Amino acid sequence: MCGIVGYTGADTAKSILTDGLKRLEYRGYDSAGVALERMGDAGSCELDVVRRTGKVAGLESELVARDDASTCGIGHTRWATHGRPTQANAHPHVSCDHRIAVVHNGIIENFAELRVELEERGHRFASETDTEVFAHLIEEAYAREHDLMAAVRAACTRVVGAYGIAVVCADEPGVIAVARKDSPIVVGRGERGSYVASDVIALIDATRDVVVLEDGQFARLSPDGIEYTDAEGACIEPEVTHIDWDIDTAEKGGYPDFMLKEIYEQPRVVRDTLVGRLSPSGELDIDELGLSFEELDLIDRVYVIACGTSYHAGLIAKNLIEGWARIPCEVEAASEFRYRNPIITPSTLVVAVSQSGETADTLAAIRDARIKGAKVFGITNVVGSPVARESDGVIYTKANKEIAVASTKSFIGQVVSLTLLAMLLGQVKGRLTTRQVRMLFHELGDTAAQIQWILDTQVEAVHKAALACRDAHSALFVGRGMGAAISCEGALKLKEVSYLHAEAYAAGEMKHGPIALIDPGFPVIAVTTKSPTYDKVVSNLKECEARGAMIVAIATAGDEDIRAIADHVIYIPPVRDAFSAITATVPLQLLARDVAVLRRCDVDQPRNLAKSVTVE
Ligand code: F6R
Repeated sequence: MCGIVGYTGADTAKSILTDGLKRLEYRGYDSAGVALERMGDAGSCELDVVRRTGKVAGLESELVARDDASTCGIGHTRWATHGRPTQANAHPHVSCDHRIAVVHNGIIENFAELRVELEERGHRFASETDTEVFAHLIEEAYAREHDLMAAVRAACTRVVGAYGIAVVCADEPGVIAVARKDSPIVVGRGERGSYVASDVIALIDATRDVVVLEDGQFARLSPDGIEYTDAEGACIEPEVTHIDWDIDTAEKGGYPDFMLKEIYEQPRVVRDTLVGRLSPSGELDIDELGLSFEELDLIDRVYVIACGTSYHAGLIAKNLIEGWARIPCEVEAASEFRYRNPIITPSTLVVAVSQSGETADTLAAIRDARIKGAKVFGITNVVGSPVARESDGVIYTKANKEIAVASTKSFIGQVVSLTLLAMLLGQVKGRLTTRQVRMLFHELGDTAAQIQWILDTQVEAVHKAALACRDAHSALFVGRGMGAAISCEGALKLKEVSYLHAEAYAAGEMKHGPIALIDPGFPVIAVTTKSPTYDKVVSNLKECEARGAMIVAIATAGDEDIRAIADHVIYIPPVRDAFSAITATVPLQLLARDVAVLRRCDVDQPRNLAKSVTVE
């Protein structure tokens, strides 16, 4: 949550910072601000701090009146944690003497104690944020050390919590000090200067070779280069990561919003996630698992831990792991798992699923599981992310950067990756033969073309259903088995992008309470694909129909009977039930987005949300 950027070099900093912030806006959009270094009349440097509530566009308009002279600065886009989303709480935060400015992503847990201590020593606070303590701590340390890097290192020893910070000091023009603990920071050197950001997407125009800073590492950026040091100030040579994904990912490419673009990318995601996964001899190839077949064979319990949409990918995986490998599999919200003392033994496999790879609850659950002796396997979309680094093995979903706050293509990448894992476990446990695995693998690959078919043929049907849902106050998503898990994701998508209340329910449970909600016109969106429970779902729908529900059915192409009870039918191609989540989720994503557009919601940046949830 929150995005930070910094630039020092030969070019105008202001536009580099605002362009970078716009790309980081998915991390939060409550307020935005920059601190730009400016040379005063007397030849001394001053910090020009500009902050605005709301999105980066507001800040950008404010900066139009500023000249282009500044070539060094830092910027921030905020998702409010400590302190309301006001201008006073917007970053950068400055020291009492206004010579030091800080932007921060993370949470400082001991900020209340530090604030009291600093106030007792005469510091005046201008905001309610935790971040501001950093500005004052660095100010004090700078008075002793007269060196920005040394002052930042000293301040970091006082702080408990997570931080990625970038700091400028008017007494050291052109220098940006950067530090990190449990919060992502990437640093890169371009032809025209040095860059820092929370995410590579903000600096990919300048360079594709970046350093993903590790916890406890520091970087000193200047127009001439970047120096890396450890917590003692000793020089280090960090690993350089080459970014190979295309810059087109960061552009809408003719689509009206990123969410739609990312939905349309899903056939590619399926194909890319499967590339190289089947050896010529027909064996599944998941080298990165970090576990031998012998170790996998000992696994007798699986926990999938994740949040939000990633949690729903886990619900799908449960069906597959238990179905194919016959290993008990529990799916838990990471935020619950860590407080529950789950039963973990050395033969427990914990699978942590996270698009961003930096969700605070998922990370905390991983650490907890490891302490208790579990093997942890990560599934993430972000190379080098904390989830990847803290797991014994990792599969990277090949979604590429996902920009819309609502996850779509990364969900599909997660489900495909978890399906591979379930197949592997099935094979190791002797429940699936090599021949069966090969057949399943090819069918899994076919889902790419099946998604494409939905995108090519069902958009009109989705739109009609969206028009019927537009003015509803609430909606129910129902299904059984896989359909129940898919419904959970459908309901989450609808509520987060369209602000229409939605709830998912196992269809068979409707008569135990939720059916009381149904009155004429109430939308019931049902996953009624041809599956072992098809007839049961249809009977449940008849009960809803009898009470006047407006039924939207996600059905298997060729199923004409469903039209007798459904007001709207959206088809998906015939698919094995095990793979139905990969296809049946797609119309639900389209539906949610369509309803949101009809209700004039900000599809890519829904209110109150941020894409990376780095607070607990
Ligand atoms: C919903 C959505 C969120 C995330 C959740 C976990 O569309 O995107 O529910 O799935 O915040 O995030 P990750 O997967 O990054 O751990």
